[in-house]
Amino acid sequence: MRPFYLTTAIDYVNGSPHLGHAYEKVLADVIARSRRLQGQNVHFLTGTDEHGQKVQQSAQARGVPPQQFCDEVAGEFRDLCRLLNISNDDFVRTTEPRHKAVVRAMLQQLFDKGEIYRAEYKGFYSTRQEQFLREKDRLPGGSWPEIYGEVTEITEANYFFKLASYQQWLIDYITAHEDFVFPAHRRKSLLEFLADPLNDLCISRPKERLEWGIPLPFDENYVTYVWFDALLNYYSAVKDLGRWPADYNIIGKDILIPAHGIYWPIMLHALGQPPPRTLLVHGWWSVNGQKMSKSTGNFIDPVAFCREWSVDALRYFMIREMAVGQDSDFSREQFLVRYSSELANNLGNLVNRTLNMTVRFADGTVPPAGPCEDAERELQALWTQTRDEVARLNADLQFHVALERTMTFVTAINAYIERRAPWKLAKDTSAPAQALLRTSLATMAEALRLATTLLWPVMPATADKVRAGLGQAPLISWAGELDWSNRLAGATLRPVEILFPKPPPPAKS
Ligand code: ME8
Ligand code: MG
Repeated sequence: MRPFYLTTAIDYVNGSPHLGHAYEKVLADVIARSRRLQGQNVHFLTGTDEHGQKVQQSAQARGVPPQQFCDEVAGEFRDLCRLLNISNDDFVRTTEPRHKAVVRAMLQQLFDKGEIYRAEYKGFYSTRQEQFLREKDRLPGGSWPEIYGEVTEITEANYFFKLASYQQWLIDYITAHEDFVFPAHRRKSLLEFLADPLNDLCISRPKERLEWGIPLPFDENYVTYVWFDALLNYYSAVKDLGRWPADYNIIGKDILIPAHGIYWPIMLHALGQPPPRTLLVHGWWSVNGQKMSKSTGNFIDPVAFCREWSVDALRYFMIREMAVGQDSDFSREQFLVRYSSELANNLGNLVNRTLNMTVRFADGTVPPAGPCEDAERELQALWTQTRDEVARLNADLQFHVALERTMTFVTAINAYIERRAPWKLAKDTSAPAQALLRTSLATMAEALRLATTLLWPVMPATADKVRAGLGQAPLISWAGELDWSNRLAGATLRPVEILFPKPPPPAKS
């Protein structure tokens, strides 16, 4: 099977990680883990974007040298990955020598090929967005949209990359490659944007205005425009591993146009490299219906949230709630609804019942299944259907529906237990009742094992705890694990801590 390379955006280190950063990493992790279970050789890259004006200003505001500032905040992002159980194979920082060397080599290569030229430039510049603005960026009244912050007119000599000369190539490429952008409506808006002529891209910043960047190899009075530097991380980190092109560059919707959808494929093409196979563009989280921001008090700190609940509860909620590609809202109320009904009362309850009943009625050892009846056959048929549907849904990145189907299967296992009522069978010493008791205990254990194989990419720690409870080793492959079997017969069960403790009742006012 061919190797699989996926990346997340690299996060700006001018602020601490938030829910959006956590989501993107978990989404990438679910894909990486699913692919590995399917036997693919996965390389998963994430990291931090550390150059540019914003970082320089944040470091100044804190009164520390920029590198020290970057080291501290990059540490927070690395810690977040560890906390969230992200299975990245590498973590790239744009201030690392390995990255800087590649950026400089690529710039030199483009310069030598005549793809970069020097010119006088006069224009309106947004410090906050670190970009020159166009007349059409103005609001109808003539002022600039708030997102640009302070806008000033400046004249300076700079270096330009011949972006415009590749416009038609890019349009043709996107037109010919339906998979280049997911979801389809984002590909459409990218093509619509390309209906207007592109300008060449200013890729330098004079050192007197910005010091914190990678010096241009052919003119050390300038540093590299932060996007030109940052985008190359996906390539620089794997250049020597022969992994390029990436299968998925996973990004949020705000950085498709122009950075990932235009600059990036054109840069690669000019360098003689293929574009990433797919730009996977996810939506944005709002919090309580508002844009997430520290000032309005609806900022979600993923670290604090995981401490209060659990890592897997957050991972589950984010993947269950957001359809990949669409926006979603995060609220405590909605989190609590899913936590209680889907995790605590459905999955958690099933784990408790299965382990407890096996201890009470079979001395903690899964009995061999006796003859099956309709109830067992129906559950087995639902399993086959669920498994096949989940495989299709995962392939289409419909992870939220895949989780819903998996939880429907969990609900069905609980219903099966109600129907069989092992506690009643246990009181009946007749041979048929005892055979049915063994069948029912074997069936619930096997069904639980199977459910956890599907939940594993989203909640790996929880799934492995359940597997340990069922006497199974941690999951490393789906091969042979997805078929209904009798493999648990004779397995000795072990106690499992409460996976999803019930939330405390709301304080009485
Ligand atoms: O854009 N919901 O970094 P960044 C979901 N350094 N995703 C969100 C989000 C939200 N509320 N807010 C941000 C950058 N994101 C650049 C990327 S890549 C070569 C350079 C996502 O820290 C955002 O869309 O501002 C982006 O994909 C990622 O978090 C990092 O954002
Ligand atoms: Mg951003």
